[in-house]
Amino acid sequence: MNHDDKIIQAEEVLKSKHEEIRKTKWYPTYHVAPQAGWMNDPNGFSFYNGEYHLFYQHYPFSPQWGPMYWGHAKSRDLASWEHLPIALAPSEDYDKDGCFSGSAIQIDDKLYLMYTGNVWTGDDHDHQLKQVQCIASSQDGIHFTKDEQNPVISTAPEGNIHPFHFRDPKVWKKGEHYYCVLGSKTNQNIGQILLYRSKDLVDWEFMNVAATGTGNFGYMWECPDIFNIDGQDILLMSPQGMAPEGYMYHNLHQSGYVVGKLDYETGILEHGPFQLLDYGFDVYAPQTTVDEQGRRIVLSWMNMWESEMPEQKYEWAGAITLPRVMTLENGTLRISPVPELKSLRKDKVAYERIQVNGNELLPKVDGSFVELKVTIDAKDATQFGLKVRVNEDLGEETVLYYDTRTKVITFNRDNSGAGPKGIRQAPVELIDNKLHLHLFLDSSSVELFINEGEKVMTGRIYPNEESIGIQFFSEGEIELLKVEKWTVA
Ligand code: FRU
Repeated sequence: MNHDDKIIQAEEVLKSKHEEIRKTKWYPTYHVAPQAGWMNDPNGFSFYNGEYHLFYQHYPFSPQWGPMYWGHAKSRDLASWEHLPIALAPSEDYDKDGCFSGSAIQIDDKLYLMYTGNVWTGDDHDHQLKQVQCIASSQDGIHFTKDEQNPVISTAPEGNIHPFHFRDPKVWKKGEHYYCVLGSKTNQNIGQILLYRSKDLVDWEFMNVAATGTGNFGYMWECPDIFNIDGQDILLMSPQGMAPEGYMYHNLHQSGYVVGKLDYETGILEHGPFQLLDYGFDVYAPQTTVDEQGRRIVLSWMNMWESEMPEQKYEWAGAITLPRVMTLENGTLRISPVPELKSLRKDKVAYERIQVNGNELLPKVDGSFVELKVTIDAKDATQFGLKVRVNEDLGEETVLYYDTRTKVITFNRDNSGAGPKGIRQAPVELIDNKLHLHLFLDSSSVELFINEGEKVMTGRIYPNEESIGIQFFSEGEIELLKVEKWTVA
């Protein structure tokens, strides 16, 4: 079947299933999720003709990963999204087993996609594969045509560079050149990033290995992204298989960044230490874009490979985090939800100066589609926090709490309902003995921004629909200086 027919076939399946799927209990109300079937990495995140375009790894026919298509959605304001027809289907000899992750760039009035064509050369998918880099373009931002010169990069470069694991191009322009970074590893399974340069997106010159891991830094780096904030070059990437260290690296794979300086002549990035992007359970393969206002916006796949995904029972899997603005402060990224999300706020409820010692329920502070902002004075308490998606009859709760002795915030999903369990922790300093929490709940997710985006914790949860309680609690006295709650709709 040719490319266009494959898309028509997939679109029919999506249309026939979506109406039922969107009514199922864990389908998000304000996050991007596939209409039906599987989703993983965000791809081609871009600002084109006044709108944000978001593509994603997608298998339309079942809620399991399969030969990858590129799903597509767009938004004017990063708050409401509209699904568009599938952009890419695996249809050619060079991408027949999947159009893997990649990125987008506007040139003149056209939108170009650069992606990895994947072909399995045997059943052992770790060792028997061929990955090449390809481009496709569109005049209308909806229908894409693969380039006749594909693949534009057909083999991995010489050197200590694995010949097959070679994927996820992120392209940008600087001066006269286009640049792209690719995820790679050495022949000894050490993650690294390759840098290329081109004048036309078709002829690519390999410049150098821009960065290679040392120590506990994973066996393969996926989904690299390089961008500049305030004169500093930031490499964002997703190292597979780092070993846990203290509070960090407890997920199967990690997403994080290093800050430094990319030498555009040598192709080498000098950089500082790896920092985690998110301290929760479910952030992977983040991708950024810059918009008209010059903001650097990031979003990620809100799942983790090999985690249980109970939504598969309802014929879909995977979601994308809320779009977040990144700024750099003292060498660390500060990450906040985009302000446009305020347009989704309804029915505000607010409280001030509430003393808590033990448990506290606030009238009308509950729900499953919620934005909540709380400033808490820790006073002399040893522990304090809140439980969300609570249902005492069912014993369901998701707990977010701070311990003033260890100075650690914990996200506990042991009793969240169905699905994966466990805790994640992040070290956090109080500010003037106060903790600021900014929380977004959707049908099956929690996104917690701590102290104005100094740390973020993201996780999927799968509670019962009736589990809508929110409770504050403390050991010792605290004061809720300010509580603001909205329904998000
Ligand atoms: C990351 C990843 C990418 C690859 C894609 C395949 O989650 O493994 O490296 O291109 O997913 O769907």
